[in-house]
Amino acid sequence: MNAATKITAADFGKTKEGAAVQIFTLTNKSGVEARIMTYGGRVVSLKTPDKTGAMGDVVLGFDSLDGYLGDNPYFGALVGRYANRIGHAQFTLNGVQYKVPKNDGDNCLHGGLRGFDKVVWTGKALSDGGLQLTYLSKDGEEGFPGNLKTTVVYHLTDANELKIDYEATTDKDTVINLTNHSYFNLKGSGDILDHVLTINASRFTPVDSGLIPTGTLQMVAGTPFDFTKATAVGARISSADEQIKLGRGYDHNWVLNKKGGELSLAARVEEPTSGRVMEVWTTEPGVQFYTGNFLDGTIHGKGGQVYKQRSALCLETQHFPDSPNKPNFPSAVLKPGGKYKTTTVYKFVK
Ligand code: GLA
Repeated sequence: MNAATKITAADFGKTKEGAAVQIFTLTNKSGVEARIMTYGGRVVSLKTPDKTGAMGDVVLGFDSLDGYLGDNPYFGALVGRYANRIGHAQFTLNGVQYKVPKNDGDNCLHGGLRGFDKVVWTGKALSDGGLQLTYLSKDGEEGFPGNLKTTVVYHLTDANELKIDYEATTDKDTVINLTNHSYFNLKGSGDILDHVLTINASRFTPVDSGLIPTGTLQMVAGTPFDFTKATAVGARISSADEQIKLGRGYDHNWVLNKKGGELSLAARVEEPTSGRVMEVWTTEPGVQFYTGNFLDGTIHGKGGQVYKQRSALCLETQHFPDSPNKPNFPSAVLKPGGKYKTTTVYKFVK
């Protein structure tokens, strides 16, 4: 089905510990190109056409591996075992309390100190042009229980979709939440305040000052969180709303309108200058919309670009933050014999 997609592999350097990193280039029949490396399973570049047909890179990152090995906020990364936050960096499963690293104030963010974004995955080019990445996270790694076997497959289809299929199994009860943390700027540079966004969600999960959900599901209607109708990202981002202030902008989880685990439209982003339009489809119940609030101009990325606040947006499909401590949220528990299986598609419709 993806027969026209070509995949090639190349060396991309070595980690500080000396592990070899490969980069794979996936190219579809229209010349849309995704480069993905085995370090963190990261999307390094994603080139799609603008309204004139000119190809341009729509994700933030670095030109070489070195940048990724240094301090950076999960650019393009596969995030796990537990994407987003676990409150007080602890949770209880079957009566046993597990402590995970506190790497975000009192909380655990994006899997801990050395999450899936910082490990080298095993890469394999598939005959259909897809890229398979596998990683075995050992029992106790970053404090999480169970040997977790994870497989993530990236496909670049001829419909200009970057499709990500996540699968995992465990040998002990554990919690899991995997996502991709690409930073999109459909214009290729500048800020994302003019990107026009729709999110297919009537509710979101309000947070406390540590960005941990309070546990309630709040209606978006009448708030700056209402993206049920296409609205510019910048229209209400500086409003006096309490939740906006806590997030320093948008850094919240939306509760997607859906029946169950079906692949459904989560969000649509339209950038007027370039004419690019990206849709996000997912089987997940939630999406974290993040407006690059912590970017502060200290990171110099591709071509020396200075990444300032709001220079990109993330749409991280996921189970809700802190689900291991929120019995009323959809469960993030995976048990032996069960299979974690989710799909997210970033589709460039224009
Ligand atoms: C996620 C979080 C943000 C921030 C970024 C990385 O989107 O929700 O708070 O941590 O990752 O900087």
